[in-house]
Amino acid sequence: MRAIILVGGLGTRLRPLTDNLPKPLVPIAGVPLMTRTLRRLQAQGVREVVLAVQYLAAAFHKRYGDGAALGLRLRIVEEPQPLGTAGAVRYAATLAGELSDGPTLVLNGDELTTLDVAALWRHHQTAGGLATIAVRQVVDPTAFGVVVSDAAGRVTAFQEKPAAGTALANTINSGAYVFERAAIEQIPAATFAMLERDLFPQLLADGAIIAAYPHSAYSQDIGTLAGYLAANAAVLLGQIPGERPLGREVAPGIWAGAGVQIDPAATLVAPTMLGAGTQVGPGVLIERSVLWERVTIESDATVRDAVLATGSRVARATLLVDQAVGSQQNPTIEA
Ligand code: GTP
Repeated sequence: MRAIILVGGLGTRLRPLTDNLPKPLVPIAGVPLMTRTLRRLQAQGVREVVLAVQYLAAAFHKRYGDGAALGLRLRIVEEPQPLGTAGAVRYAATLAGELSDGPTLVLNGDELTTLDVAALWRHHQTAGGLATIAVRQVVDPTAFGVVVSDAAGRVTAFQEKPAAGTALANTINSGAYVFERAAIEQIPAATFAMLERDLFPQLLADGAIIAAYPHSAYSQDIGTLAGYLAANAAVLLGQIPGERPLGREVAPGIWAGAGVQIDPAATLVAPTMLGAGTQVGPGVLIERSVLWERVTIESDATVRDAVLATGSRVARATLLVDQAVGSQQNPTIEA
């Protein structure tokens, strides 16, 4: 299996955490999301990966190189300018001026998921369409891209973020696809285009078969602060098979990296991650929060449902709630 992973977005909704770190590299319970994704793909039989990069591209080169350390043949392909999710697929699938043959797995790089990509791949081959979209059910689809399919599992319509009460289905695009070369050929070269807005409606209008692959695997988009905290919480609480936090569990659901110092008069509420080198002062309360590395929380501060980037500091008696605090420093510990 060959995979293209889309990792070139600006990650604006996760600012300031993404000011100097691309969204797919933010740590989830101490380990970059992309590292978790690449490990999982390797274990599922993927051998060849193309990272479709744009924003802060150098960070991917620095961390993953040629992928050998993860048992992958990794290529990092940088668009000259952002081409959108479809334009990026077209660009990354083109080798030496030619589109590569055979089907290609395409994944959003900002989803923590246990999706079985080998099963998605097999489903695509059996369904015989030009493209297959992994879909999952949600209770409220209003914030998502809805994918409507018929009894035979063929996609019939798309609906982007439907208003309450107007959704045609509660199955949503879960950011994983398989494309035949003929589908990728439909994307214009060197032009900005989106999968959901441009390619899929065009394929349907042309009468092409797009198959839906329903799955019930864990899947969490980390692109918002709430989504990012939810993904961390799931790993910290041991709810995701195969995904472990970095460090040691100092109390149920509370994990600490190397060299963390916690004052005995501090209170920690799970799920919480304290990255390596973090210092927590007396009288501090930390609830359901994710601290990257070398964070300092001075005495009597309260940190609740918050994310603190590497090297950040919370001053004495500060109240920090529902907030992300950025920094100029990046996480340094290789995971
Ligand atoms: P926001 O700015 O917060 O919307 O985030 P985003 O820019 O990452 O956009 P979105 O969450 O819609 O992107 C879904 C996936 O596609 C992410 O993994 C992005 O990194 C990736 N992506 C989005 N736009 C591009 C692009 O123009 N080029 C490439 N290579 N990847 C992209």
